[in-house]
Amino acid sequence: MTDPILGFSKLSKQEKIDWVAEQYTHDPAQTKKLLLQYWNADTTLQKLHDEFIENTISNYYLPLGIAPNFLINDKLYAIPMAIEESSVVAAASKAAKFWLNRGGFKTKVLATEKIGQVHFMYSGNPEHLEAFFKNVKPKLIEEAKPLTANMEKRGGGISNIELRNKTSQLKDYYQLHCTFETLDAMGANFINSCLEQFAKTFEVEAGKSPYFEKEEGQIEIVMSILSNYVPNCLVRAEVSCAVEELTLSEAVSPGEFAEKMIRAIAIADVEPHRAVTHNKGIMNGIDAVVLATGNDFRAVEAGVHAYAAKEGNYKSLTHASLKDGIFKFWIELPLALGTIGGLTNLHPLVKLAMEILHKPSAEELMQIVAVAGLAQNFAAVSSLVTTGIQEGHMKMHLLNILNQLGATEIEKNKIVDYFKNHTVTHSSVVAEFNKLRGTR
Ligand code: MEV
Repeated sequence: MTDPILGFSKLSKQEKIDWVAEQYTHDPAQTKKLLLQYWNADTTLQKLHDEFIENTISNYYLPLGIAPNFLINDKLYAIPMAIEESSVVAAASKAAKFWLNRGGFKTKVLATEKIGQVHFMYSGNPEHLEAFFKNVKPKLIEEAKPLTANMEKRGGGISNIELRNKTSQLKDYYQLHCTFETLDAMGANFINSCLEQFAKTFEVEAGKSPYFEKEEGQIEIVMSILSNYVPNCLVRAEVSCAVEELTLSEAVSPGEFAEKMIRAIAIADVEPHRAVTHNKGIMNGIDAVVLATGNDFRAVEAGVHAYAAKEGNYKSLTHASLKDGIFKFWIELPLALGTIGGLTNLHPLVKLAMEILHKPSAEELMQIVAVAGLAQNFAAVSSLVTTGIQEGHMKMHLLNILNQLGATEIEKNKIVDYFKNHTVTHSSVVAEFNKLRGTR
């Protein structure tokens, strides 16, 4: 049993490593060596990474891959993806290549509104609160001017502040529901700073307002925070082609394939167990690009899943139709992303990812990310309804198994070659490996 530690954050990096290695690992020397192995040799670069978070002891690598050949609104993109799952980049690339010769992806940003709320309690007369709010609203905006001036110069800022009475859901609960336009910034800091200023002004002004009787004006601010649910920060991506162009599988005719895809979506629409996995596949593509471009994938995840459940039951984020011989496949989802601020100006690989993506605006990035999600889903569901997922997945997983077994490059090449025509399973790879080494 280890003892708790006080003042851990005050220790030097080396002291932190020593402590964790000695208190929590069976071979401290090996632990230290491993952590050190992942440090960057360039000390300035390492320091940059150390300072992203508190208590950094090393770096945690994820592969950064490229899925090329994405034709989006007639412009060609190679999409950077940071992800550990073996088949994701290959699946995205395959879908990109398939749609490249069928008109590519068409996308549109439908709205870019961000949301933040000041949550507060008030037990007095709602009409008095309403009158006070109308009166104080210009002052809320005015006193936030030092925070909003820059954003306004660029065309963004506070779009609206509404008073919402939520007392039917929770006694005495009200909110200032605020909407913002944050342009190329994800806007979390901007929004939170504005909200905290609104809360301050609101509370102070309420305390001296003639709209309230006596004690009535006492407002208790509970919290001020942006919402990651952004149903009006919405993007749509679509692919379509004549049904006879759906020549994906020799085993399934184009018409059958279209029907199978549509049925798979219909199942995800009515069956939450399937919908969650279906959408997880979409997030394989989305998170990988969100991460590679230094955006907050947790925020995106939370908002996207809430959107998938907006009608009361959790549904597919993608949709498919077949009308007048045209197969259409599309996605519509909320994405609050930034291409300036945060990690985007700091992390050298994020900067590179942005350059590879032609330095997109936030709106362009929303479209690219939506496409990555749609492509991923197309690849996953088309495999599922034809060959099944394991064939491709295990082929991609083959190298992981061989690395676990400690195979040399020559052994890997031979075994990969062998499995071009054989089914990959964990045991079949082990057997082939042992055979090659003559240990069986
Ligand atoms: C695996 O990471 C993702 C899939 O399960 C998605 C799906 O089932 O649609 C293949």
